[in-house]
Amino acid sequence: MMILGIDTSCDDTSVAVVEDGNRICSSIVSSQVDLHKAFGGVVPEIASRKHAELIDGIYREALNEAGIAGGDIDCICVTAGPGLIGSVLVGLSFAKGLAFALEKPLVGVNHIEAHAMSIFLEQKISFPYIALVVSGGHTIILLMEEPCSFKILGSTRDDAAGEALDKIAKLLAIGYPGGNVIEEYAQKGRGNYVSFPRPMSDEPHYDFSFSGLKTSFISYVKKHEVSDENINDILASFQEAVFDVLSMKTIKAAMGCKIGRIVVGGGVASNGRLREVFLEKGARHGLEVIFSSPRFCTDNGAMIAATGYYYVQKGITSPLNIRAFSRMTLH
Ligand code: KG4
Ligand code: ZN
Repeated sequence: MMILGIDTSCDDTSVAVVEDGNRICSSIVSSQVDLHKAFGGVVPEIASRKHAELIDGIYREALNEAGIAGGDIDCICVTAGPGLIGSVLVGLSFAKGLAFALEKPLVGVNHIEAHAMSIFLEQKISFPYIALVVSGGHTIILLMEEPCSFKILGSTRDDAAGEALDKIAKLLAIGYPGGNVIEEYAQKGRGNYVSFPRPMSDEPHYDFSFSGLKTSFISYVKKHEVSDENINDILASFQEAVFDVLSMKTIKAAMGCKIGRIVVGGGVASNGRLREVFLEKGARHGLEVIFSSPRFCTDNGAMIAATGYYYVQKGITSPLNIRAFSRMTLH
């Protein structure tokens, strides 16, 4: 079964052709990083305009690379939310038009569920498992019960982890996206140089809060001058605090649900130190921790196709009037 996967939820315009849920025939991702760099974050209006400009060309490129024509597609899967609503609407409207014109079924996919399922592009793992999706827009722990069925166990009450990294990088004017830039500095620094707080780590629930941690960072740099001598250590310490909380909470969720497997996805999961922390702590608790390859951690249409595949298998498709949604709770 040839599935077209479309994602325009944030700042990447992405279309992929995936056969039978895991054979990637093409995966085109056009990043808008350069457009948003000057603003230190994604500007929603600019993002949606760019998606509208690019989507048709990227769709054609994906078909060409896969060596197929539109009529060869069996099903069209597209992010229906959550995301920047103007951006989501571009992909969703395009997908609806295609589904109508080609007379093929449409599946509206939850973007977060797709991050949690992106691992299936590379390996089949068994259910249930705990998924942490950690990106610029989301920090959320899911209980993945079976294909097409998940429960939200916890999420951030304010900033997403990637957003906190992006914001402090913006404050220091060291580049964008912040997560990648901070990783480079942190590799040369000591993670225990500043003891930043680990918000909510002692509380029994699985929610996160990163805005207080960001505020502690701001207070620290107001009191201590950031220089070439200490910047690596300060950023390594901040990063360590973020990853410590992410891993503590996710492991707590796995232990609480008596589930031995954790999958970590989303843009921040491409970080090498995050992977080390999860693997070390996971092993200490007898838990298996699995990561998608970095190219499938960041936004991509292939994970949308891989997730939608299971919906089609169960005969679940969406009507042409399916609505876009911006927040996870409206799933
Ligand atoms: O999943 P993604 O591409 O888009 C969203 O859905 O948000 O994630 C982007 C986020 C940004 O906040 C970026 O700073 C972060 O992922 N990120 C990283 C790394 N690469 C991207 N954070 C830490 N380390 C990285 N290597
Ligand atoms: Zn994403």
